[in-house]
Order: sequence, then structure tokens, then C-alpha cells
Amino acid sequence: MAFNFKNPSKLFAWFYSLFCPVYGRTLYKELLKALDLNGSESVLDFGSGAGILAKKIIKNLSNDGKLTCLDLSEAFLNKVRKKLRKNTNVNFLLGDIREMDIPSDSFDKILITWVIHHIEEEQRLGLVGSIADTLKADGKIYVIEYLTPPHGISEEILFELFNGMGLSERMVYQRKNTAIFEFRRA
Ligand SMILES: C[S@@+](CC[C@H](N)C(=O)[O-])C[C@H]1O[C@@H](n2cnc3c(N)ncnc32)[C@H](O)[C@@H]1O
Repeated sequence: MAFNFKNPSKLFAWFYSLFCPVYGRTLYKELLKALDLNGSESVLDFGSGAGILAKKIIKNLSNDGKLTCLDLSEAFLNKVRKKLRKNTNVNFLLGDIREMDIPSDSFDKILITWVIHHIEEEQRLGLVGSIADTLKADGKIYVIEYLTPPHGISEEILFELFNGMGLSERMVYQRKNTAIFEFRRA
């Protein structure tokens, strides 16, 4: 199945919005546990897709907290906008993070769930570098990944990407071939 997030067909976008909450339920639950949000954090949901996770995160943030949803796909970002239209502490960023002027030290927590294996290999290092630049000194990045190549990404390649940015990993949870990792400055 071809995954065209940038210009998704209506059928694909509809299927994906239904599939994600079911497939991801346990992993999102474990991620929320690991995040242990106090409510006042600044959180980036990188590659927010249909906004299933964003909707859960916003429920755990107070008015002092802030959620940023970033995606390359206008169609998917519009889905999140619609889901979170009543929330005031959310902002939406459309496009390539490498071309955005996000100040360094912006986010306490960055979430990258099922995104990296969809990014072309030669783009990954630059993108992860730009994401890591926006993390606060004591911030943490949480990654959920499908670890079986060729569709997924191997642990070794994933760790290499983040270790190269001076971030070290800890496995938070694993179910079959999908895992949650926490990365922080070593
Ligand atoms: C498989 S979906 C995952 C969505 C969501 N994180 C979730 O948990 O359901 C991958 C998402 O990443 C987005 N994406 C892929 N490459 C991206 C990039 N370079 N920058 C921002 N978003 C990207 C896609 O548009 C898509 O919405």
C-alpha cells in the first residue's frame, strides 16, 4: 500500500483516521503514562497526522501548557485543526521544519509517532537535527516506531540518528515489532 500523506485520497485519509485510534490505542496509553505531563509543558507533535494523539495530549495540558501540531500535509493538518478547534492553547504549523524559524529550547516534550519510517533515508538526519534543535536542555523526545524493515526502521538506524544529535535512548515499552523510546541529552 502506498502511503501518500501529502496528497491523500479521501479514501486513504478516511481509512487512516479510523485505523490509527484502534491500532495505536495501547501504545498511546503507554506513551501518555511515560510522558507524565504536569499540564504546563510545551509539547510538539511532529507529524501529527489525523490528530488522534494530539487530542489526547491536549486533554492533559492546562492553559499554561501549549501544544504545537506540525505536519507536511495540509489535508491531515486540517483534520487536527477541526478536532482541536475549541482549544486555544494549540498552534498548527504546516511545512518542513527545516525551513521554519522555531527558536531552540522551545519544547519540553517532542512526540514523533510513526513518522520517521515514512521519511526518505537521505532526509532523516537533517530533519531529526532540526527537531532536536527545538528541544529544551532538559527536554525529552518520545518516538514510537515500527521496527521491522523494509517498511519499518531498525533500532540501530533509529539510535544512530538520535545518538548523532547527542541524545541517548531508553526503551519505554515494546509490543511485538513496535516500540516507544525516550531520548534525552546524554
Ligand atoms: C503514519 S502518520 C502518523 C501520524 C501520527 N503521528 C499518529 O500517531 O497517528 C505520518 C505523518 O507524518 C507526516 N510526515 C511525514 N513526513 C513529515 C515531515 N518531514 N515533516 C512533518 N510531517 C511529516 C505525514 O504527513 C503524516 O501525517
